[in-house]
Amino acid sequence: MTDITHPWQRIFVALDTTDVSKAVDLANGLKGSVGGVKVGKEFFTANGPEGVHRITECGMPLFLDLKFHDIPNTVASAIRASLALKPFMVNVHASGGSRMMIAAADAAKDTDTTVLGVTVLTSMSGEDLAEVGVDVEPLEQVLRLGKLAKSSGLDGVVCSAKEVVALRGAVGKNFKLVVPGIRPTWASADDQRRVVTPKDAIDLGADYLVIGRPITGHADPIKAARLIAQELTDI
Ligand code: C5P
Repeated sequence: MTDITHPWQRIFVALDTTDVSKAVDLANGLKGSVGGVKVGKEFFTANGPEGVHRITECGMPLFLDLKFHDIPNTVASAIRASLALKPFMVNVHASGGSRMMIAAADAAKDTDTTVLGVTVLTSMSGEDLAEVGVDVEPLEQVLRLGKLAKSSGLDGVVCSAKEVVALRGAVGKNFKLVVPGIRPTWASADDQRRVVTPKDAIDLGADYLVIGRPITGHADPIKAARLIAQELTDI
């Protein structure tokens, strides 16, 4: 990805659909208002690498959000396979442990692909963590996994905007913080529990913002993206 000269280049639009034409049209229409596209399990499971390739023909950077979590050898192989799509960013679950993350980082080491760790899913509460045997507050677990991701050689983590300041203190500057759960003041929160505006997320220190429904679910997605871009430019 070329250097960021405009704040809107930090936005990755989440193309959460199974419909290739819809995703391709959105990607083409949004070029110039967002910096990249995010493709996740929904689109990938329905359309595979061929479908992703159709999207990346728009020329924007790709965040391939497949959140791998498996034995180290399998995760490394999956990362290597994903490199055929020349992703700007890929990710793995940090809870897969240091050996898995070291294998993931090593698989992408001679490439420009950024490998991120997912700390604690923003959909999980303290009670959800306790249920699976993690008896600490989500923020403590996020910091623990963020530091482990860094010491394992990953390039950054996906986290909530509410965790950005504490994480930045724990992992330093040269570690990418990618933030979903973003809502402009004029958009609905949908199922996101803790939302932050695009401007506030950047002010807090996020490197990239993942924004889905406020753009893709808007009656006029291009207008919505331009509105967000304008709000960010006014920082
Ligand atoms: O539509 P919305 O803006 O809520 O989309 C957010 C995107 O970020 C979705 O693709 C979702 O899967 C993803 N995501 C998230 N929370 C995380 C990790 C990823 O919302 N912790």
